[in-house]
Amino acid sequence: MLRNQKNQMVRRLQDNWSMKIVRAMQLEGKSPYFRAMQSANSPRVDIDGRPRMMLGSNNYLGLADHPLVMEGARKALERFGAGSTGSRLLNGTIDLHLELEAEIADWYGTEAAIVFTTGHQSNLGTVGTLAGRGDVIVADADAHASLHDAARFTDAQSIRFRHNDVDSLAEKLAAAAKRGRPAMVTVDGVYSMEGDLAPVDRIAEVCLEHNALLLVDEAHAVGVFGRNLTGVSELYGAADRTPLRTGTFSKSIATTGGFAVGSHDLIDVIRTNGRAFLFTASGVPAAVGGALAAVRLIRSAEGQERAERCLANARFLRDSLVSLGIPLAEPAIGPDGAEIVTPIVPVIVGESLRAFAKWHELYERGVFAALAHYPAVPLDHALLRLAVTAEHTFADLEEAAEAIHKVLEPDNERQLVA
Ligand SMILES: Cc1ncc(COP(=O)(O)O)c(C=O)c1O
Repeated sequence: MLRNQKNQMVRRLQDNWSMKIVRAMQLEGKSPYFRAMQSANSPRVDIDGRPRMMLGSNNYLGLADHPLVMEGARKALERFGAGSTGSRLLNGTIDLHLELEAEIADWYGTEAAIVFTTGHQSNLGTVGTLAGRGDVIVADADAHASLHDAARFTDAQSIRFRHNDVDSLAEKLAAAAKRGRPAMVTVDGVYSMEGDLAPVDRIAEVCLEHNALLLVDEAHAVGVFGRNLTGVSELYGAADRTPLRTGTFSKSIATTGGFAVGSHDLIDVIRTNGRAFLFTASGVPAAVGGALAAVRLIRSAEGQERAERCLANARFLRDSLVSLGIPLAEPAIGPDGAEIVTPIVPVIVGESLRAFAKWHELYERGVFAALAHYPAVPLDHALLRLAVTAEHTFADLEEAAEAIHKVLEPDNERQLVA
C-alpha cells in the first residue's frame, strides 16, 4: 500500500509535461540543465571539457573570482573553519555575520539587517514569519518562486495580481481592505527571467493607500541599480516607502546567502520567529567573509565602475542583437518612463522544443546561455536568458551575438526542420 502511494507520487511528477521534455533532451545529451563546470565563474568557463562563453550566470559585477572577494572568503575559512554546524540562534553566529549585518544596514540606510543562509530563505523567513491566518499576501504573478513558496508556507490567503499591473494590485488590496484583512505585497525589483522592473514608486503608493506592507526582493538589482547600488526601490526614489527589502548574495555579491533590511521592529520579529532563519544552519564562514568583502567592494568606487560596465555591456549586447534582427523581450521601463537596460537580455525563441534545440546549437558554438521554459515563463514563450557581467568585453559580446544570429537565422531553421 505504502509502496503504491509512493509510486503514484513519483509517476505524477514524471508525467509532468515539462519534465518529459527535459528527460528527452537529457537522453539526447542536449539538456541545458545540470551541466558541470570545471573552472571558476568568469566570462569563459570550462564546461564539458572546453571553455565556453558564460552568458548564463548572475555574476553581474564579475566578482565571483575577484581577488578581494576570494581573499575575504579565504580569511574567513582559515579563521572560522569550514562550517558553522549550527543555527544562528545557537552556535552558528560568528562575528562576521554581525559585521555583515551592520554593513548591510548602513549601506541600505535602515535601522537593521538580518543575514540568512540563502536568498530563498530570506523570502521564506520574512513573508513566512510576518503573514499569518487572516492576512492576505498579494504577490505579482511573475514574482520569484521563493516569494510564492513563502506565501504557501503561511496560513495567510495567497493571491496574485497581474504582472506589473498597479491597477490590478489596487483592486486586490481594496478587496482585502473591505474584508478587514491586513495585506502584504510582494514583488521582485528586477524580474529574473525577462529582466523587466517593478514600478516600485507606484506600487509603494498603492500600498500606503491601503496600509499594506510592501516587500521588494532586490535579488537581481543589488549592485546594479540606484545611486548606492542598493536596488530598484532606490532607483525609483521609493526606498523610504519600502518597509522591507530582501536580497541574495548569489548574484552581484557572488557568494551564497541572503538578507533582509527594515526597521528594528520588523527585523527583530523575523530574527526571533523566523523558522527559515532559526531552523537551519548559518551560512558557511567562507560565504559570509566573501559576501562582506563583496559588499564593501560594491560600496567603493570600483563597485560603481563595475555596475556601469555591466550596464554598458548589456546595452552593447542588446544593440548587437537588435542590429542582427534578433527578437528580444520588451525592454524594461525605468522610473521616468524611458527604456532602461538591465543585465538580463532575454532572447525569445517560442516553443519549448525549438528552444531546447537552439540552446544546444548555441552551446555547440561555445556559448552557454540559460534556458527558461514553461512554467518558468508562459507556455510557448521559452527564451534564452542571456546575462552579462562587467568582465565581458565588447569583443566577447559581439562574438556571442553572431553565434546567436547563426543559430536563429531562418536558413538554419529550415535545415533543422528538414
Ligand atoms: C528574484 C529572486 N529571489 C530570490 C532568489 C533566491 O536566491 P538564492 O539563490 O540566494 O536562494 C533568486 C534566485 O534565483 C531570485 O532570482
